[in-house]
Amino acid sequence: MSTVNTSVFEQTAELKESYLCDALDYDRDHIWHPYTSMTKPLPTYLVESAQGVKIKLADGRELIDGMSSWWSAIHGYNHPVLNSAIEQQLKKMSHIMFGGLTHQPAITLAKKLVDITSASLQHVFFSDSGSVSVEVAIKMAIQYWHAQGKKDKHRLLTVRQGYHGDTFAAMSVCDPVNGMHSMFKGILAEQIFAPAPECLPDGSSNIHKVEELLQKNHLSIAAVIIEPIVQGAGGMRFYCQQYLQDLRALCNQYNVLLILDEIATGFARTGTLFAYEQADIEADILCVGKALTGGYLSLAATMTTTKIAQGISADGSGVLMHGPTFMANPLACQVANSSIDLLLQSSWAEKIQQIENQLMKELMPCSELAMVRDVRVKGAIGVVELKEPVDLKQIQEKLVEQGVWIRPFNQLVYIMPPYIIETDELSKLTSAIVSVLTV
Ligand SMILES: Cc1ncc(COP(=O)(O)O)c(C=O)c1O
Repeated sequence: MSTVNTSVFEQTAELKESYLCDALDYDRDHIWHPYTSMTKPLPTYLVESAQGVKIKLADGRELIDGMSSWWSAIHGYNHPVLNSAIEQQLKKMSHIMFGGLTHQPAITLAKKLVDITSASLQHVFFSDSGSVSVEVAIKMAIQYWHAQGKKDKHRLLTVRQGYHGDTFAAMSVCDPVNGMHSMFKGILAEQIFAPAPECLPDGSSNIHKVEELLQKNHLSIAAVIIEPIVQGAGGMRFYCQQYLQDLRALCNQYNVLLILDEIATGFARTGTLFAYEQADIEADILCVGKALTGGYLSLAATMTTTKIAQGISADGSGVLMHGPTFMANPLACQVANSSIDLLLQSSWAEKIQQIENQLMKELMPCSELAMVRDVRVKGAIGVVELKEPVDLKQIQEKLVEQGVWIRPFNQLVYIMPPYIIETDELSKLTSAIVSVLTV
């Protein structure tokens, strides 16, 4: 068995090389990475540190980050303000149970979230990850209808090509084919799927497909769940605000709740603080996570209206049936408070617009390439969709050789960089994409 000794970094190049091999061997033999095989894993790169938009590998190479650690590190890494928020909180307490106790970081964060989201969202449930916040949202919807005496309303309607997380209820509303969870068919709750949103330039869309399903099934549907404006991990698809407006109206008409999953899109990624603002609608239940803590710690929140909170409370024991051990972790809440302040104090709208303009200009030439099906940009998200899935190992190596960290999946090569990225750094990301796709 190999031993991993961090002090070796101060030693000779030879020792460092052997440490690197040992560490990577141990990692490969013992640790699962996301969606990987234990016996035939793809290579991983050992990271020593990260600063601003740069990731420093243990072998000395430096990569410009194009992923924001999956939508989360919006202010970049090792940010002095966020570091300090954690250090200050650490001196008081890193964690305390939330059953029967509360603390200022959670109260301040709840106030901030209530302030920056729709006026109707007044109640907050903190949990430890995006997937769990989706579980909680689904529970809220089901418990609400249960309290109304409508116990048959327990199914979810959603659209194809969505992604809402990897826990069981969350998996049940991911795309049943490409949502990475098709092997669980028959085990997951069977939900109702409309086609993925399609919008035409004149504003018309395939929302009538949702209407048909609601008309037929509304008595058994508790809620519609959807990622507003941008469908993330299920295909990096963008759709129009009119679709969301029509969806809101249909939910009202058929008496079903609307859950908006802003876990990926929240905190300015699409150009507005929350993507739903572009459609000028309000959710009955809203999930946020990822960039909530600026990518520092795992934290998510599920928010809802007074009508739903009171509805749930009127039933039986009146309690919402959830309570994770690390609920409202004070370190996570405190860094979230600082991250939201940092964002709101910055000229984020201008910055996202600049990133969007640059992505448009520098990625659009990819549409001329033979292997490319589509190029699209929304806010600080740039997507190059290929005709065929990428060879991940090969393209990853080429991107790392170009000095960038971009993690493609299936036929998607996409970036969503930290908002602090400079023009020349963003150009390095886009030119690396153009270069690896040019054969
Ligand atoms: C829209 C959306 N919902 C939910 C999740 C799940 O969040 P987590 O990975 O924190 O559980 C993700 C993660 O990618 C997401 O993009």
